[in-house]
Amino acid sequence: VTPRKMSFGINGKLNGLESKTPFLIGVSGGTASGKSTVCKRIMEKLGQVDMDHMQRQVVCISQDSFYRDLSPAEKLKAEKGQYNFDHPDAFDNDLILQTLQDILAGVKCEIPAYDYRTNSLMKDQITTIYPADVVLFEGILVFYFPKIRDLFHMKLFVDTDSDTRLARRVPRDIKERGRDLDYVLNQYMNFVKPAFEEFCLPTKKFADVIIPRGADNTVAIDLIVHHIWDILRLKKAENSSRQHPYIYQHRRT
Ligand code: ADP
Ligand code: C5P
Ligand code: MG
Repeated sequence: VTPRKMSFGINGKLNGLESKTPFLIGVSGGTASGKSTVCKRIMEKLGQVDMDHMQRQVVCISQDSFYRDLSPAEKLKAEKGQYNFDHPDAFDNDLILQTLQDILAGVKCEIPAYDYRTNSLMKDQITTIYPADVVLFEGILVFYFPKIRDLFHMKLFVDTDSDTRLARRVPRDIKERGRDLDYVLNQYMNFVKPAFEEFCLPTKKFADVIIPRGADNTVAIDLIVHHIWDILRLKKAENSSRQHPYIYQHRRT
């Protein structure tokens, strides 16, 4: 699948929206920068959260659902905070590529949830991703591999200061991810911080839009939400023109 890139034509019409391909948005940024929160806000503002999964026009997927299964030896390392979850190889990148290609081809996909407490995928908690108009894919390393990066029509980078991120990661991982303070700080110093500098931060240059301060930045979130509304409107017009080509041609003149 070669997704069509979106660009503005001379008449101001959004090019690349005439295909049935969903508009794929990548959202990256360091740990605890607010990626998941920003995506949640976008989904809320678009009224997608309380909607049945089959009806959703916009869906959000996390890269964490693509962590590799760990061997028993790796599991033991993870329990001691000695496994590097921030390295690009920690993810099943072939499966990410395949899944995004399926999504772009309008194929229904099944995505497991991730359990940080057991460091494993929850194969009994599968979410079905039905074909949608806009798909958000968020994670620390979604722009790392060129083959995956090149699939996105729009790339966002949530840019929050490192000290703020650490100050947010510590309580989050203790409260929500079953860790203790020593574990979180050691993992941060040994793996999270060096991997952020080596693998995540250099991908910021690929972003189309940088969102400083994450979810605090309501202006940036509103701009993105308006952009998605425009895409949904154009897709809707396109769909109805397929059903009523005469009316569409008439309106275009
Ligand atoms: P990411 O997905 O990038 O790791 P999260 O969205 O999980 O980041 O945010 C990390 C933590 O910080 C979470 O506990 C979240 O509730 C909290 N958080 C996110 N954004 C803000 C904010 N603007 N103000 C205060 N807390 C925030
Ligand atoms: O939501 P966030 O971007 O923080 O999720 C990615 C982070 O989750 C990585 O920085 C990684 O260290 C952490 N992680 C973890 N334990 C796992 C899987 C991921 O601490 N089992
Ligand atoms: Mg997250």
